[in-house]
Amino acid sequence: MTNAKRPIGIFDSGIGGLTVLKEMIRVLPGEATLYLGDTARLPYGTKSEETVIKYSIENTRFLLRHNIKLLIVACNTASAVSLPVLRKEFSLPLIGVIEAGARAAAKATKNGKVGIIGTETTIRSSAYTKAIKAINPDIDTVGQPCPLFVPLVEEGWIDDDITLSIAGRYLAPLRKAGVDTLVLGCTHYPLLKRAIQRIMGEGVVLIDSAEETAFEVKEVLTHLGLVVPTDGGNISGMTPVRKYFVTDVPLRFEDQGSRFLGERILKVEKVEVE
Ligand code: DGL
Repeated sequence: MTNAKRPIGIFDSGIGGLTVLKEMIRVLPGEATLYLGDTARLPYGTKSEETVIKYSIENTRFLLRHNIKLLIVACNTASAVSLPVLRKEFSLPLIGVIEAGARAAAKATKNGKVGIIGTETTIRSSAYTKAIKAINPDIDTVGQPCPLFVPLVEEGWIDDDITLSIAGRYLAPLRKAGVDTLVLGCTHYPLLKRAIQRIMGEGVVLIDSAEETAFEVKEVLTHLGLVVPTDGGNISGMTPVRKYFVTDVPLRFEDQGSRFLGERILKVEKVEVE
């Protein structure tokens, strides 16, 4: 297989990373992808850094056995705590979701006040704050964990009154702080964009890390000369391979995943990564 034809590996704690895959398919339609959802060990967002790093190393080793050309750490929690370790341990091109989101937020803010929402472990790590401050130390950040958002999205309660009421409570400190930009720092949150925008008001810019990451992947692959050529966005020849691995039974992943990906999920295989 030529270098460019090798697949892109993506891992997440479960189905959430499909929001990143969705953007990837939109931005780079010709790329073959291997997605690993560590469904047996999710959630990552409430676990310690040490545990998430261990899982991230195992997931990376698994995908490396499948000859990937680049790895996307789609999980915000895993990106927040394990990226420096993965970069030290493995030599392939590695892209997390934090840096692209931080760059977009630093660019978008006009009043220098950026809010960040994510899992408990992501917010505790301050990874987004550090990445934003590295770009512009004058930007003030306010972090807010929103742990109930993940189960709400997985339940499909996207535009529900309960969701709006919970969002109102979580986002109140960010509104009070007067942020004009809000980073959706978790794989699941792009599905709540409408509810979050309603609470924050139309004037607040929402940063979708999934979308920003897909642009970064395109940039890196272009730089490395590893993009699969497409004919003006149309895939010439065969549809690229999309394969899915999960660490627990595939049923739930297949059922719920289609909602995250916006297309039917086929070819899901249960694997061991430990
Ligand atoms: N994928 C996780 C993230 O983006 C959310 C789900 C979990 O906690 O495992 O942080």
